Amino acid sequence: MSASRIVYLNGEFLPFEEARVPIMDRGFLFADGIYEVSAILDGRLVDNAAHLARLDRSLGEIGIRNPHDSAEWERLQTELVSRNGVTEGLVYMQVTRGVAERDFGFPPADTAPTVMMFTQAKTVAANPLAAKGARVITVEDLRWKRRDIKSVALLAQVLAKQQAVEAGVSEAWMVEDGAITEGSSSTAFIIRGRTLVTRPLSTALLPGITRASVLRLAAEADLTVEERLIPVSDALEATEAFYTSASAFVMPVIEIDGRRIGDGTPGPLTRRLRELYLELARAG
Ligand code: PDD
Repeated sequence: MSASRIVYLNGEFLPFEEARVPIMDRGFLFADGIYEVSAILDGRLVDNAAHLARLDRSLGEIGIRNPHDSAEWERLQTELVSRNGVTEGLVYMQVTRGVAERDFGFPPADTAPTVMMFTQAKTVAANPLAAKGARVITVEDLRWKRRDIKSVALLAQVLAKQQAVEAGVSEAWMVEDGAITEGSSSTAFIIRGRTLVTRPLSTALLPGITRASVLRLAAEADLTVEERLIPVSDALEATEAFYTSASAFVMPVIEIDGRRIGDGTPGPLTRRLRELYLELARAG
């Protein structure tokens, strides 16, 4: 948390140390808020319009007024990225229902939402894990029933990821009724032959922005898309597997629950999709 970092809070660009949120913030008390994460590559925001559209939708679903239109969000993001001199990494945005006396029902309508953003410098394109391939484990999906909303209530994902950390692997794929819903912070895909398989959108998972881009790129990699449930047994039989997110892009999976996928190295179709996605991201 570098001392020189500038963050955005409620209309101001401030040094990290000076950005303070009151303890009665509903994000802190109730996880009553929404977030988004966009990648920065070559100094530019990746898939940002879609991330801002999802932010707007998530806010609408829980009845928080979006404080900015997309053009204003992007202006603020761009200024923050530039003030921090980040050319590769992430920008994180969060809006909570604001500061009010603790009470479960919504606060008075004139309560201002808390709006916050920060950047993280990070190697997202030349990520060494992408060359090596990630190992994942499956864990039980302990979450609520509106996972299509990008809520800051992430305890189940925190616990899932910690299980992955303790198992010495990179990601946890969450399982409900025998089928994979998604990763703790990513969308799960498998490839069987030339068929790319991922779970159809519903309230059971987040509509991944990277997911949507990858599905659009599938044809260019000569892949047919099938949106259906993925039983764990199916994933273990996959010829290739990967996960996607704003921070991981297309991340090859080489092992699931200790079972090798394919020959245990990143698969050729997955590598192709990662390349295509990076080209798309760089094209802006
Ligand atoms: N996580 N599913 C979950 C549960 C996620 O948290 C994420 C992203 C995704 C992938 O969505 P997208 O492609 O739009 O990033 C799927 C972000 C990166 C995070 O929490 O840091």
